[in-house]
Amino acid sequence: MVIDVHGPSCERNRSRDAGGVILGIESTAHTFSIGWVNGLGEPGKSHSAFVRPLEGGIHPREAADHHSENAGSILKKMLSEENISLKDIRAVAFSQGPGLGPCLRVGASVARSLSTKLDVPLVGVNHCVAHIEVGRERCGCDDPVLLYASGGNTQVIARLDGRYRVLGETLDIGIGNMLDKFAREQGIPFPGGPKIEKLALEWLESNPNASLKGLELPYAVQGMDLAFSGILNAALNLVANGKPLAAVCWSLQEHVFAACVEVAERAMAHAGKSELLLGGGVACNERLRSMCSIMAESRDSTSHVPIKPLCIDNGSMIATLGRLQLLWGEETKLSASGVRQDLRTDETEILWH
Ligand code: ATP
Ligand code: FE2
Repeated sequence: MVIDVHGPSCERNRSRDAGGVILGIESTAHTFSIGWVNGLGEPGKSHSAFVRPLEGGIHPREAADHHSENAGSILKKMLSEENISLKDIRAVAFSQGPGLGPCLRVGASVARSLSTKLDVPLVGVNHCVAHIEVGRERCGCDDPVLLYASGGNTQVIARLDGRYRVLGETLDIGIGNMLDKFAREQGIPFPGGPKIEKLALEWLESNPNASLKGLELPYAVQGMDLAFSGILNAALNLVANGKPLAAVCWSLQEHVFAACVEVAERAMAHAGKSELLLGGGVACNERLRSMCSIMAESRDSTSHVPIKPLCIDNGSMIATLGRLQLLWGEETKLSASGVRQDLRTDETEILWH
């Protein structure tokens, strides 16, 4: 395994043993995860634990406590099961933002301690950009329009002038948070998205001619932007008014995914791009994946999505981006390693190819 390190500020890496792995630590919200990539950027398995609040949304302090309680055992388990010894670790990457402050600080502290103890470079990465880069790297697409659909984020993005520019995004809540909230109101614990997908599929299987009549929801598209909170309330009302839960799950998916795909298609036309890449936890959804493929095909374009463990929050995607940043000479000094709760996708300069 060889890390081909270029860049003016990478002398420290160049003088190191070329083998080894880069660790990635993720702790932006509900998930604490440690993963890794080898010198070629090939991801290993991430080891994770996530908080599942019994009721209400995620509480930042409680999630942070969960992360600190689990960090040590996850690290140990990851190293032993992945067969990695401390001396193999060449750098430590971590999610610097955006996210919940208390949660981010746990991951940053673990990363700083490891980097200091092992005397290896520390790399702070933009979590949203990591969702994008792991897809670009693993799917081999070059210059896609991205549909980044996760819990907290729903953005349509394209790379223009060295940054990932947000061409459209949700004006209120993220699509995944909307699905999770809808599920929670029906007594389904976090994460609600997969269970909604299952119910929607069951509805379609038992009603092959299912119609949206009587299950209509508001339209989520506003220009190039999206909005989900009105749809959430309308879907909750449908259930309260006696519509079968599975039917409403199906309708909810059809409406919100169609809206995302519409904005993505317009972005592809605008930006003149012929690749679509999906990222974020909601990109695990088979219906969303197939809608994207249909849209891309109809434009003589291609649609790409990484394997599911790389769509949800995971340490390996953080390691993937950390490696790229290191290759282009971006190491994070301890003094610059503070967390950035509000870091935006377009704030990060894209130096790598
Ligand atoms: P970000 O910080 O990037 O906004 P996140 O912290 O919310 O991300 P992710 O792991 O990227 O976390 O996404 C989690 C979301 O993905 C949850 O809202 C979950 O319900 C949703 N999700 C996971 N699998 C599916 C699925 N099969 N269908 C729909 N939604 C899904
Ligand atoms: Fe995420």
